[in-house]
Amino acid sequence: MSEDGIEAYAGVAPGSVVDGREAFGLRTRYVGTNVHCFAAVTSTSSVLRELAQEGAAAGTVVLADEQTAGRGRSGRVWFSPAGLGVWASVLLKPSVSADELAPLSIAAAVSVAGALAKSTGAPLGVKWPNDIVAEGWKLGGILVESVQTAGEKVESAVLGIGVNVGATVDDLPPELADSATSLETLLGRPVPRVDVLRATLEALEECFDLFGREGIGGFRERWRMLSSTLGQRVNVRTGETDVEGTVTDISPAGALVIETRDGVSEEVWYGDVTLRRS
Ligand code: BTN
Repeated sequence: MSEDGIEAYAGVAPGSVVDGREAFGLRTRYVGTNVHCFAAVTSTSSVLRELAQEGAAAGTVVLADEQTAGRGRSGRVWFSPAGLGVWASVLLKPSVSADELAPLSIAAAVSVAGALAKSTGAPLGVKWPNDIVAEGWKLGGILVESVQTAGEKVESAVLGIGVNVGATVDDLPPELADSATSLETLLGRPVPRVDVLRATLEALEECFDLFGREGIGGFRERWRMLSSTLGQRVNVRTGETDVEGTVTDISPAGALVIETRDGVSEEVWYGDVTLRRS
């Protein structure tokens, strides 16, 4: 189901800046107190990067009904049609080092998958590092990009999140048809995007708070419960080499721990995971 336009979706006029707590009942302290709402942008993360450089506050959100140049991980295009998904970016001013951004994105995926599973009843999980999945199909992803750094510290970063709410197989480009799904496809009923947006932003604020206190350690248990690959035989394409083996855990720093065929435990820090059938 497509709800046309940002007005139908979030009850706000295109081009407006609203307090999400008033506009769509967000229960947060700082995430979404300023939501910049657009009908269409190239990428919500690009727009938010510019706002960050102009001094926007932590928790500022850019929301669009459509992205014409949405970005995914590893330089991939993120399919972001009008009316069918939640495409949003949140400005963070974390006191973390650049090395902690990847674990933060894992924590965010765990938090959002858990929150959306609870609020919609969909059987959601996570696929390392930061995919939101259901029954082997991908329906959401997270991309964290640093904006300003001072030495080792990240002063500001943009966390972009995409959740496919309504795109059916007929809406998807052919290259995604055998890997992507949506909340509505899974549930077989309409899912209001504003509900997904609210649950997502509330989960992200909780995530940032807990990550600030405990780092990725605060999310490992939930990761184990939600992981679609824990205990599974996988192949991880890192760009240089492929690592094959069984996923045994996520490390205290956020790496994927894989036991290879010869019984060696390897930590993988980045890459694309695929399930092996044999
Ligand atoms: C992935 O590859 O899984 C990450 C996808 C992240 C997509 C979101 S949609 C909102 C924000 N703007 C972008 O251009 N990308 C992120």
